[in-house]
Amino acid sequence: MKWKESVKGLKAYQPGKSIDAVKKEFELAEIVKLASNENPMGCSPKVTAYLQESSHNFALYPDGYATNMREAVAKHVGVNQNELIFGNGSDELISIVTRSLLQPGVNTVMATPTFSQYKLNAIIEGAEVREVPLKNRNHDLEAMLEAIDENTAIVWVCSPNNPTGVVVEDAPLKAFLAKVPKDVLVVLDEAYYEYVTNENHKDTLPLLKEYDNVIIMRTFSKAYGLAAFRVGYGIANKELIARLDPVRGPFNNTVLSQAIVPIALADTDYLEECRAINAEGKKQYEAFCQKHQLDFYPTDTNFILFEVKMDSDVVFQELMARGYIIRSGNALGTPGYIRVTIGTKEQNEGLLAQLEDVLSNHGVLVG
Ligand SMILES: Cc1ncc(COP(=O)(O)O)c(C=O)c1O
Repeated sequence: MKWKESVKGLKAYQPGKSIDAVKKEFELAEIVKLASNENPMGCSPKVTAYLQESSHNFALYPDGYATNMREAVAKHVGVNQNELIFGNGSDELISIVTRSLLQPGVNTVMATPTFSQYKLNAIIEGAEVREVPLKNRNHDLEAMLEAIDENTAIVWVCSPNNPTGVVVEDAPLKAFLAKVPKDVLVVLDEAYYEYVTNENHKDTLPLLKEYDNVIIMRTFSKAYGLAAFRVGYGIANKELIARLDPVRGPFNNTVLSQAIVPIALADTDYLEECRAINAEGKKQYEAFCQKHQLDFYPTDTNFILFEVKMDSDVVFQELMARGYIIRSGNALGTPGYIRVTIGTKEQNEGLLAQLEDVLSNHGVLVG
């Protein structure tokens, strides 16, 4: 068959072991998964109640314009409805943007390490990928500017960044945008936006008024606890949205997803509660790292990347055998570190007790 050169030899995304697979392999009754930055509290109970009570005609396609969901998100964000595009998760938005702009002969600039899907999608489109190492734990915006040339089509800014959790602050971001050529699209991936507490990251939305070449991406998969429903959205000026929209699948958000998003948005108390629990959980990990003198990245998300002073694959394996799934930094471009989703207080306590034991068995603990 006549495969695109770019897809030959590509490996499928490795989502990590499923809870069921780990249960079976290690004969464990309970598994705690802190690997994919999902919300450990789940979604709003109002969403769950709706799902239990509602009935729909599943023979019908969903609303291709996602009218009700669009109305609710537009109101929530404070933009016009034609300034939004919805994806089947922000994963699909990444693919829509890359399919629209990348092709052989053009390049795309991103940090490394950062979210893996930018690179994968760019490779599929046959574009050149220019990866710029982080500097002082953050996007090296100066070097990213230098990497841009007349063939650059997209620049990715992941803020807060996955896997580090570090936010790009407003001042450097503004200075950066002022220098990016106007014909280069800047994607600001804010998948963890709702968790940000950094005082120097107020709000990126006003930037859209100043820059026509910026799209902000957010998702319901993280703080809203709705990863299963696959809803992400992009915010940009209406001309940009109108260009991207034809590349989107016609019925890309399901009937149930469209129905529950307005309910999730309305339950602001629940979101606040989840944020507060996350903030407390973050302290548990920071205290652990401080106690044992393990380096950690200052996170503005629901995960934390920290040092284990040994092979992170071994830590990953040993924690899995004890019922905890985390991500090894080896797979994320940060060897010697692990990335852990911040769980409930009990989950964090359980994981940290096991980790303390693993690390002390290997003789790497101080304190
Ligand atoms: C930075 C970043 N962007 C996008 C995504 C994809 O999220 P979604 O579930 O909305 O596709 C993730 C998921 O982990 C992420 O970390």
